[in-house]
Amino acid sequence: MHTQVAIIGAGPAGLLLAEILHHHGVHSVVLERQPRAHVLGRIRAGVLEQTTVDVLRAHGLAGRLDREGHPHDGMKIVWAGRSSYFIDVHQHQGKRFVAYGQTQIQEDLFAAADRRGAQVLHGVEDVQLQDIDGATPRVVFRHEGQPRQLACDFIAGCDGFHGVSRRAMPPQVLQEFEKVYPFGWLGVLSQTPPLPDITYANHPRGFALASMRNPMLSRYYVQVTLDARLEDWPDERFWDELKARFPPDMAEAIVTGPSIESSIAPLRSYVAEPMRHGRLFLAGDAAHIVPPTGAKGLNLAVSDVHYLGRALGAFYREGSSGLIDSYSATALRRVWHAVRTSWYLTNLLHRFPGASAFDQRAQEYELDYISASPAAQRALAEQYAGLDL
Ligand code: APR
Ligand code: PHB
Repeated sequence: MHTQVAIIGAGPAGLLLAEILHHHGVHSVVLERQPRAHVLGRIRAGVLEQTTVDVLRAHGLAGRLDREGHPHDGMKIVWAGRSSYFIDVHQHQGKRFVAYGQTQIQEDLFAAADRRGAQVLHGVEDVQLQDIDGATPRVVFRHEGQPRQLACDFIAGCDGFHGVSRRAMPPQVLQEFEKVYPFGWLGVLSQTPPLPDITYANHPRGFALASMRNPMLSRYYVQVTLDARLEDWPDERFWDELKARFPPDMAEAIVTGPSIESSIAPLRSYVAEPMRHGRLFLAGDAAHIVPPTGAKGLNLAVSDVHYLGRALGAFYREGSSGLIDSYSATALRRVWHAVRTSWYLTNLLHRFPGASAFDQRAQEYELDYISASPAAQRALAEQYAGLDL
């Protein structure tokens, strides 16, 4: 097999890159380890930055998003015993968010791939990247029991944090930056009407978050210890704990119901630099992980492939390699902005085990400062909104 760009991974990064490349007249083949049903079954985040919506729209991928997504002007912060405040991203930045599940984006991307007869191979095994330093890289793998080889001009590693692409970078080239947080999030999806605003709560019992997918689908999270197990969190315990972390009026407004999905994820910040080596590019979770506190993971995957698609488009159209050469630096600037913001919000909103009385007071007075200062709210709105492309 031969293609111009071999894409490893059919998550949001891989499939969107394939669409963007197609718009530039560039051919790609996507290799995905899992069956399509598995990829579509993953419940992930669902807050899209304006930038993300703009990129999807520009490629004709926002039809359903524009019909079914729920625009939001900002987010709310509450903390124990104080009144809540709204960080008005629209007022400060002129940007809106849209609540729309990553699961739906994944469906829309597969539908677009099907419409144009894109080559997406599922169930590929033993993917290995070869000759990424040379002019003719290859991907070797097994598919339906047969050894296969895909020759290409470039490889896009969009295979998530546990993929093989990042590991194909020479160790002496790859620099890793990592921070692991001493807690996780337990998330629950339920078919109940959500609270009107995405609301982050800092409480002595720990962080909690109220979010939504649509008017009859809520998504809630609570901070849990690293050893928490799902079987110890029956629905009743989850709802009690969630409500205990919100002020009484909000707790009362939370409509409970059976969970239709629940999962526990530890929080981590991670960045791999550079995001390109030779003819291999990394994009999305393959290159970086953010704690979910800033809702940035999916948005970064979209901005990465926007930059990468543009760079490869220019290469094939004009023979210019300028944007290819600057891809890593351009993408990393936006990545680090989101990594820093997510780290900041994680520190601001969680209860850290073993925090000193001093640290605790400093956190409380930072929340107090933000609640009282329009300038601080504006700065927070700017960070939460994400950088322009
Ligand atoms: N070979 C082929 N495919 C692989 C391999 C491999 N060795 N390893 C992983 N994959 C596939 C995974 O099965 C998955 O479908 O790569 C895909 C990576 O998708 P995601 O993990 O969704 O990562 P990405 O596309 O970068 O999406 C960005 O942002 O909000 C976050 O984590 C959230 O998934 C989201 C991410
Ligand atoms: C979500 O809706 O799943 C969500 C919202 C905001 C976050 C993280 C996740 O910060």
